[in-house]
Amino acid sequence: MIVTYTLADFAEARNALEAEGRRRVVFVATMGALHEGHRSLIRSAHRRGDAVVISVFVNPLQFGPGEDYARYPRPLSDDLDVCDAEGVDLVLVPTVAELYPAGRQVSVSAGTMGSVLEGASRPGHFDGVLTIVLKLLHLVRPQVALFGQKDAQQVACVQRMVTDLNLDVEVVSEPTVREADGLALSSRNIFLTPAERAMACSLAAALEKAATADTVAAARIAADEVLDRVQFEPAFELDYAVMVNPTTFAEIPDDHTGPALFVVAAKVGTTRLIDNMPLHLAAVISESVELTA
Ligand code: PAF
Repeated sequence: MIVTYTLADFAEARNALEAEGRRRVVFVATMGALHEGHRSLIRSAHRRGDAVVISVFVNPLQFGPGEDYARYPRPLSDDLDVCDAEGVDLVLVPTVAELYPAGRQVSVSAGTMGSVLEGASRPGHFDGVLTIVLKLLHLVRPQVALFGQKDAQQVACVQRMVTDLNLDVEVVSEPTVREADGLALSSRNIFLTPAERAMACSLAAALEKAATADTVAAARIAADEVLDRVQFEPAFELDYAVMVNPTTFAEIPDDHTGPALFVVAAKVGTTRLIDNMPLHLAAVISESVELTA
């Protein structure tokens, strides 16, 4: 495994992969603090190509003022051990100065779909994500880029950027990896106290219950039943629990049928958590429909 800290060293190692004939490069962008969710992305990357490249970079552009940029975990040597154990070929660990030498001027705008839900609670977040992802895609030049479905709105924004800017890369999202109690894996889970963690599990529990419903109304009632149990806890602050179109992230109407995504976000203690689950909403047969023999 080659670990690079400068863009020049990275470019040399990236070219060497090509020279060795390893043409299908699969990329996993991360902010480090690698967990089982990242490991499963790396394993999928091996199945999808012949070289796996990882970046480890806590991107300041996607954190708002007062968010957890400073305390975000940065266990670099553990992360490199994980990469090594998972057979990663090439790692890029750039500094902020290396990636943003001239500060911030030109950036990518995520548009409307980046300003709702997570984007409404974290203004500028998706602009920051898309700006770094675009830079990394240019540097890494992968054929495939893998992202975790836990950050569903991020995946949808990246996919839309790839479409709108005609980027030559296949974006693939991989299923969320969960703890035995349902909690979606996140590098931020380490901040949860045991009591907060128990509350955090209600997000996944609400989604699981909603996923068994077949109408928008039934899904909402099912999720509310679970969330009602924690909503008066002082440490639990629900931000949103809504059903959206998985591609546009626009809220779906009550009579929606077909694929939808139930997305939730909450602050538990000092930690902001997000989760989501796909729904398959059936058509409700209206009583006025005449049945023919
Ligand atoms: O999902 C993440 O860890 C980050 O948002 C990403 C894609 C690495 C961009 O900084």
